[in-house]
Amino acid sequence: MARIIHRRRHEVNEGEASESGSWRRPVRQILFRNKSRFTRRRGNAKLCGIMQRIRIRNLLAMTPGDAEVTAAGWVRTRRDSKGGFSFLEINDGSCFANLQIVADQTLPNYTSDILRLHPGASVVVRGKIAASVGQGQAVELKASAVQILGFCDPETYPLGKQRIGFDRLREIAHLRARTHSFGALARIRNTLADEVHRFFQNRGFLYLHTPIITASDCEGAGAMFQVTTLDLAKPPRTAAGAIDFDQDFFGRRTALTVSGQLEGETYACALGDIYTFGPTFRAENSNTRRHLAEFWMVEPEMAFADLQDDAALAEDFLRHLFTTVLARCRDELGFFEQRVQPGVIARLEKLSTSPFQRMTYTEAVAVLEKSGKTFEFAPKWGMDLQSEHERFLAEEVCHGPITVTDYPAGIKAFYMRRNDDGRTVAAMDVLLPEVGEIIGGSQREERIEQLESAMRASKLEPSDYNWYLDLRRFGSVPHAGFGLGFERLVQFCTGMHNIRDVIPYPRAPRTCEF
Ligand code: 4AD
Ligand code: MG
Repeated sequence: MARIIHRRRHEVNEGEASESGSWRRPVRQILFRNKSRFTRRRGNAKLCGIMQRIRIRNLLAMTPGDAEVTAAGWVRTRRDSKGGFSFLEINDGSCFANLQIVADQTLPNYTSDILRLHPGASVVVRGKIAASVGQGQAVELKASAVQILGFCDPETYPLGKQRIGFDRLREIAHLRARTHSFGALARIRNTLADEVHRFFQNRGFLYLHTPIITASDCEGAGAMFQVTTLDLAKPPRTAAGAIDFDQDFFGRRTALTVSGQLEGETYACALGDIYTFGPTFRAENSNTRRHLAEFWMVEPEMAFADLQDDAALAEDFLRHLFTTVLARCRDELGFFEQRVQPGVIARLEKLSTSPFQRMTYTEAVAVLEKSGKTFEFAPKWGMDLQSEHERFLAEEVCHGPITVTDYPAGIKAFYMRRNDDGRTVAAMDVLLPEVGEIIGGSQREERIEQLESAMRASKLEPSDYNWYLDLRRFGSVPHAGFGLGFERLVQFCTGMHNIRDVIPYPRAPRTCEF
């Protein structure tokens, strides 16, 4: 029975989550009949099961009626009226808006509890949805019972009194998620993650879980976090005096992945189109507003595809994400528009329809050289584009997104396909205003000799990558893919200045709170 009840409680939650805000009365009645678990006393007595609360997002869409409903959340404000009642604004994180509760002095715990409620306190409220006479909300909840779950000391709870900076909030775990900004960010992140899956699933891509611990360095840059169980104070040594990784947990050197691409390629070259979406780790000492040591990357990989297919997919993908976040997160984006970056909505609207401009690296460098602008790093063919160059191209040359292709081989990873000119590779970076590079991708080198020589040029030993070279030995096909930095996407959609503020727990050099 308990199991059935449990399932039904879950169903109630599912039901109330529907957009219409409809309420499954029959299920609820079943719940209330089980009086041993759910009681219906007034006041601060135990209210019915909290799980059957309706989320505020759905309560606000309901029409006034006689049915009793349950809301639960954290108090944002309390205002007491001389008429003998109080207004509580409560928020449960389901949406931006608060629910206004009207609690009057006839409630048995009005003086003992309600008048002691301060921002941050948690409550469960039962009552009827009524039309609100006050401004700011269409409906409110007339409380028939208010149960306090946890009081909150106004002397020591900092929220609501003064504005706390984003950098200070990073150090206060319990508070960060309760702020409007981080609540809105979490919902936008969730929507974007959902739309990442929808986009690829609708196109028949297979979601692949690539490993987090790896023995390969995908980017060949060596900026990897080592994974070891060896005693660092006394590591075992070989006869030659080197650390003996043979005695390590995996019997070899291993690290956290910098990309799921290499493993993704093996599956794409068997199943067609795949994508990965997982945590990625880079031990670069980059203390910038665009770099994290731990971030999430979306990496599609397509067999039988070239760089043009890759660029087309990347552009469709970004347009899909911009269009859907606009449609699904209007309130949240409105908040960022007002408080963080005016113009962020118009920017998304423009990008969701505008074509992406394309330019080769060689053309881009020529544009930069001729621009007459003084850059910190003077642009020169053969050097990597710096963030200042990327932003200049997107913001001042193209006034929108741009896909730069065909970079010099010397500045790109070993796996990119060498072009016929012998000096560039079939690489692409998608650059956006403000953020710069958001996507990096390429057509992969499918010819074994070329790949081996590119590995040697990157000081990688081909025999360490035999499993990867096998793909080129047995039925090699042209294939291509890219990686999208998920946090850079969230940063772009919200206009947040620092990438550390768009991920729940930022990890960066000398930063690993909690
Ligand atoms: O350009 P990157 O290094 O490409 C790859 O890793 C390829 N293996 C992807 C592929 O082809 N499957 O990284 C891809 C994207 C960048 O464009 C950027 O958006 C993001 O990942 N990124 C970072 N985001 C936050 N912090 C960092 N340290 C990042 N490094 C890369
Ligand atoms: Mg890159």
